[in-house]
Amino acid sequence: MSRVEAALAAAEAGQADAEARMCDFLRIPSVSAQPKHFPDCDAAADWLCRELASLGFTAKVHATDGRPVVIGERPGPTGAGPTVLFYGHYDVQPAEPFELWTNPPFEAAIVDGPHGRRVVARGAVDDKGQVVMFLAALRAWVEATGGLPVGVRIIIEGEEEIGSPNLDPFLTAQRGALAADVALISDTDMWDIDTPALTMRLRGIAYTELLVRGADRDLHSGLYGGAALNPINALTRVLGALHNTDGRVQLPGFYDRVREPSPREIADWDGMHFDEARFLGQVRLAHPVGERGRTGLERLWARPTADVNGIWGGYTGPGSKTVIAHEARAKVSFRLVPDQDPQAVVESFRRFVAERLPPDASFEITPLGLAPGMIVDTNTRWARAALAAMGEEYGRKPVLVGSGGSIPVVESLRRLLGIDTLLMGFGLDDDNVHSPNEKFELRCFRHGLRSHVRLLGKLADAA
Ligand code: BES
Ligand code: MN
Ligand code: MN
Repeated sequence: MSRVEAALAAAEAGQADAEARMCDFLRIPSVSAQPKHFPDCDAAADWLCRELASLGFTAKVHATDGRPVVIGERPGPTGAGPTVLFYGHYDVQPAEPFELWTNPPFEAAIVDGPHGRRVVARGAVDDKGQVVMFLAALRAWVEATGGLPVGVRIIIEGEEEIGSPNLDPFLTAQRGALAADVALISDTDMWDIDTPALTMRLRGIAYTELLVRGADRDLHSGLYGGAALNPINALTRVLGALHNTDGRVQLPGFYDRVREPSPREIADWDGMHFDEARFLGQVRLAHPVGERGRTGLERLWARPTADVNGIWGGYTGPGSKTVIAHEARAKVSFRLVPDQDPQAVVESFRRFVAERLPPDASFEITPLGLAPGMIVDTNTRWARAALAAMGEEYGRKPVLVGSGGSIPVVESLRRLLGIDTLLMGFGLDDDNVHSPNEKFELRCFRHGLRSHVRLLGKLADAA
């Protein structure tokens, strides 16, 4: 039996143990957006540190100005082979609204579905389940061979879901501890449950909060309506002007630096026969929105967007209260593509708002997370190793995909440390990420784990 076969056998034998560890981890409600969960974020970091220690890693929890970061290291066979840097995030999105969950978000129930068993929990696939999946692949190698085939360094942060605001200075300060030949992330999707994928582009983001102020107090909407500025009306008018009827974002200069996908990419994507009706049908929609004249995959992977993510102000309790609010707020996010500059988009949004608000309205825009769009190099020996590993595991050719989501660290690793990333993830598009009833198919967990076992072996050979 080869070493990889031995490790795969150990992975099979350790499957139930790996699932139990994943559920254990998922029961820690490590929500980075909510201060009441900050102690849980600490607990998740500690959990990882113990897990890494049990795998023979030197590991440490590092304090930052926000949630802590876990770094670990275990060298490969002495003096030989490459070093891979695995990145993941232990933080999760808020689980609200709780009442829409079929199983409580932090109990990690394993339930049956059309593809077999699945785990239902916030963070199941994004990203705690996928982190444990990789750790299980390491465990399989350690158990089967007494060590790892390559040097492995690990960084798991706790602020990805809020835009990684403290990560860049941390990466710079820890550059020595993080030096590696290639980075590896499991935080993306497959093409479908039978077709593995390597992600070659991610969108970036400029996430902002907009506050519009009117009078110095709430006003009777009858006594003042018709005379006093209504900041909610003013806000919605601005937001309503973000798109034209062709679905184009109206910020001045928004498309100036947008890089068009190459003819090769367009041809590849056309050949993938993306079923947009099925994609939208899963969430009971039938009519695509977005820029006219662009295909579905192009709009999702290679075109920028503007979306209101939240809007509030005035009276929102039961029944009616006749009031003109004194302020109104919205969360507005722009998904970005190469080579848009997130900071420039925020400035353009600022001018856009200033030009459209009536006199007497004042406003503030607070940037809450900025990350540029990113194309990763898939023409490397590391990418070939990943494609081969998944190809062997699934018995079919993996596809190169884009993703509309963002993972800020990918661009930071390239810019600050000069490291390219492999985005090899095992989520599905119906996993309900950031939504109630997030789940991870145990079939994806198992084949993902086995793909990682194979990849570690191949990276050793790729050196
Ligand atoms: N893992 C996701 C991004 C993702 C999901 C990429 C599925 C590809 C397929 C990540 O955790 C995420 O949600 N990122 C945030 C980043 C933001 C807060 C800066 C996002 O995209 O909204
Ligand atoms: Mn994620
Ligand atoms: Mn996420």
